Amino acid sequence: MIDYKEKTADQLVAAGVELTKDELMDLIEVPQDESMGDYALPCFRLAKVLRKAPPMIAADIAEKLNASVESDYESIIDKVVQVNAYVNVFLSRAKMASDVVDEVLAKKDDFGKSDIGGHKTVIVEYSSPNIAKPFHIGHIRSTVIGNAIYKIYDALGYDTIRINHLGDYGTQFGKMICAYRHWGNEEDVKREPIKTLLSYYTKFHEEAEKDPSLDDEARAIFAKLENGGEEEVRLWQWFREESLKEFSRVYKMLGIEFDSYNGESFYSDKMERFVKEMEDKGLLEESEGAQIVRLDDYDMPPALIKKSDGSTLYITRDIAAAVYRKETYNFYKNIYVVASQQNLHFQQWFRVLDLMGYDWAYDCVHVPFGLVSLAGGVTMSTRKGQVVFLEDVLNQSVEKTAEIMREKGVDEEVIPEIAHQVGIGAVVFNELSNNRIKDYVFDWDRVLNFDGETGPYVQYTHARACSVLRKADPADVEKALAGGIDASKITGDSAYDLVKLIYRMPAVIEEAGSKYEPSIVTRHIIQIASTFNRFYHDEHILVEDADERIAKIALVAAAGQAIRNGLHLLGIEAPERM
Ligand code: ARG
Repeated sequence: MIDYKEKTADQLVAAGVELTKDELMDLIEVPQDESMGDYALPCFRLAKVLRKAPPMIAADIAEKLNASVESDYESIIDKVVQVNAYVNVFLSRAKMASDVVDEVLAKKDDFGKSDIGGHKTVIVEYSSPNIAKPFHIGHIRSTVIGNAIYKIYDALGYDTIRINHLGDYGTQFGKMICAYRHWGNEEDVKREPIKTLLSYYTKFHEEAEKDPSLDDEARAIFAKLENGGEEEVRLWQWFREESLKEFSRVYKMLGIEFDSYNGESFYSDKMERFVKEMEDKGLLEESEGAQIVRLDDYDMPPALIKKSDGSTLYITRDIAAAVYRKETYNFYKNIYVVASQQNLHFQQWFRVLDLMGYDWAYDCVHVPFGLVSLAGGVTMSTRKGQVVFLEDVLNQSVEKTAEIMREKGVDEEVIPEIAHQVGIGAVVFNELSNNRIKDYVFDWDRVLNFDGETGPYVQYTHARACSVLRKADPADVEKALAGGIDASKITGDSAYDLVKLIYRMPAVIEEAGSKYEPSIVTRHIIQIASTFNRFYHDEHILVEDADERIAKIALVAAAGQAIRNGLHLLGIEAPERM
């Protein structure tokens, strides 16, 4: 696709404007008000050089540019207008429409992708739930945001590695095994692993409040686990396997995969090296029997590396994991999609890596996100057993979607598949529609609204575009998809707005990648969908005039493709019928 801003700068240089192309690229703006054109060049800076009033300079440039545009049939500029100190440039709607539509229809599923990543390796760590604990609605954020970030980086031409850093190690397993030994039952665990294990965990905390010796017992059990105690390891492994089975069900529903499930336990025997290294580098200090790295100089509390009983910690495992990843994958970027509650944790250990002399510490990125809470002020607490399971939410969403479809009189036969795509898509889309750092309230009415700025709305718009293509004469569709349409027939305002939004899609994806912000893609496809719907209402598509009809069909196909590609980047399916 043509870079219209760059072309505009070229034409300004060719018309004799006294600025370099780079300077022009810096200066050219997109006017807020669309009636002011597609690009505007403010002439204030030129005034200093030319010692003339800015409006006069603008008038002069506009005149020169108009002259060069008129003599050039190939020009992408339609007209140039001076308004005060600005030169306003109006692009040729037809040229842009034909360029953009051709590009989308030629690239199809690859439209929006680029190769700026140059196959550099990017690790995206996401989801990372804790074993034997519920995979609850809170985990949806890391899972879904991380998956979208992975897909965006993949589309930008990076080689990506998806890691699920399972929380499968730590003192809580001492508690879990302790509880299992006191009150557990094998059959119950097998039947319903996580809910049963959770009930043990809850019971442990209730009982430990009355009898603190249970905490000591749990600590001793964890120490045995760390030292390879046979029975402890066996139980731990079993809890891990059962939990993974449950997690996999949810990942399957969401269509999410990982390249590695190396979680915390994977590093249990890889930490000593770093503890020693920190010691050698004079970073470790003893404090009340524990080993710490002081971070006072950075206004942070110390990083606790080893407890007084010799057991290692979450942070120690993160440090070992980062070095392992650098040595194994030699990453260009190592991204962690983890809740903002862990901001300090990440700042601390990134700093420790830096102090250890690893300059690639700066290639590690924490991508935080806000809290999710439940409508009605319900709070979640694993310890108290107050949780909403993600799997239940997904199932419920599919069920509710099926109900809505039944009410709308959709054919019973197609309901299961589409309700699955729409129900799950609705939850994922909702998750990705707000800026990730914002806290948000999970609310069914919002998630499943077909008219709001929701997943079902965007999916429905995509299905509508598909339905136009189904209704059209196949011979017309074939001609439309072959490219080379007469784009002078699609220059109405809504058509042009649609073309411009589709044109911006690759830049939007790039921006979403550099800001680690999938919602930028979400917002953009909402805009494409609503603009498509405006076009659909404004204009007749299957009109008498063949050229016009074919051009419009091509634009519909391009819009559908752009929406589909956007949904796929977010990890959402795009059903052709709804
Ligand atoms: N398992 C942790 C939790 O559920 C998240 C792990 C985040 N990743 C990391 N490398 N620390 O809170």
